Amino acid sequence: MFSDAITHPTDTPVSTHALAEAATIGGYAPSICNTQPWRWRLTADTLELCLASERIMRVTDPEARLATLSCGAALHHAHVALRAQGWDATVTRLPRDGATAVLARIRVGGRAPADPAAVEYLRTIPSRHTDRRPVTGSPVDAADLAAVTAAVQAQGTRLHTLRPDQILELAAAVDHAQRSEAGDPAWQAELAVWAGGTRPSGSGVPDAAIPNRATQTTVPGRDFGHYGDLPVSAAHDESAVFVTLYGPGDDPIDWLRAGEALSAGWLTATMRGAAVLPYSAPIEVIASRQAIRAMISSVGYPHLLLRLGRTDPAADPAPHAPRLHAEQTIDRA
Ligand SMILES: Cc1cc2nc3c(=O)[nH]c(=O)nc-3n(C[C@H](O)[C@H](O)[C@H](O)COP(=O)(O)O)c2cc1C
Repeated sequence: MFSDAITHPTDTPVSTHALAEAATIGGYAPSICNTQPWRWRLTADTLELCLASERIMRVTDPEARLATLSCGAALHHAHVALRAQGWDATVTRLPRDGATAVLARIRVGGRAPADPAAVEYLRTIPSRHTDRRPVTGSPVDAADLAAVTAAVQAQGTRLHTLRPDQILELAAAVDHAQRSEAGDPAWQAELAVWAGGTRPSGSGVPDAAIPNRATQTTVPGRDFGHYGDLPVSAAHDESAVFVTLYGPGDDPIDWLRAGEALSAGWLTATMRGAAVLPYSAPIEVIASRQAIRAMISSVGYPHLLLRLGRTDPAADPAPHAPRLHAEQTIDRA
């Protein structure tokens, strides 16, 4: 992990090296269908984050809300890397100074004491991953849930834990969303571009991370249109806990902040031995998104659903999805 850091000309300032490393570490963030929809622009003392238009799923995600959320996760990873390595780094979100396409700008000041919480997050980044197998171990406990909730809230987003009766409503919303998407040939064609096979391109979801048969779950996992190679047990997902990330608004700034919160919450869950699986189909389809919004009594706008739980400790770890080479996502000004 972290082995494909970009190479640096020898006369580059040390802060620029740190920003390049931060962008590289940002590349390990989770993203919708592993599209890695981020582009970094590197100058001597700033790193700008933009959407990579060629890696947005235009049918699934026409407003780029999930691409922006994915960029927020990459932003949190990059900011963590700088703070962990002893840099005073300031983030400006959606700077309105002419560069309209910029989602965020990170500016490095001078050296600062390494932030111990960021050091913990940075250590956890290599082991964080998506696990689509049923969660069958003991459920995450109240202390784990409180830690994940606090990490999400510290990033300005909120987390609602679904009550047992709401899990059936969630299952219905996911089922509705997946049926409506699967009935659209354009959606199927787009999914086929981003899922399946061995993914030598370094992006997309490989068959190795897709279950090799239907999983026993109340809430259906993402329908990738085919089974993959990931061995799954016949056990039921009964110890799953479902949460929704939601925020005060439904604009790009809210999606970006939700992505930062996703990164913080997911890394916290990983530190505590909990597996995380995002569910975005009910966010992608408007009727399902409205059903999820009703579950939080319309006090905010839902951005993503997550399943938290523990997988069989005796099973092999779930495989990691590939990544683009850092050079493919970083432009030097
Ligand atoms: C915004 C967002 C939405 C996602 N939606 C789903 C989903 O609906 N189903 C799923 O199985 N994985 C989902 N994922 C997980 C991604 O597929 C995963 O992060 C990506 O393939 C990279 O793999 P990794 O998390 O193991 O690094 C989502 C991730 C993000 C950030």
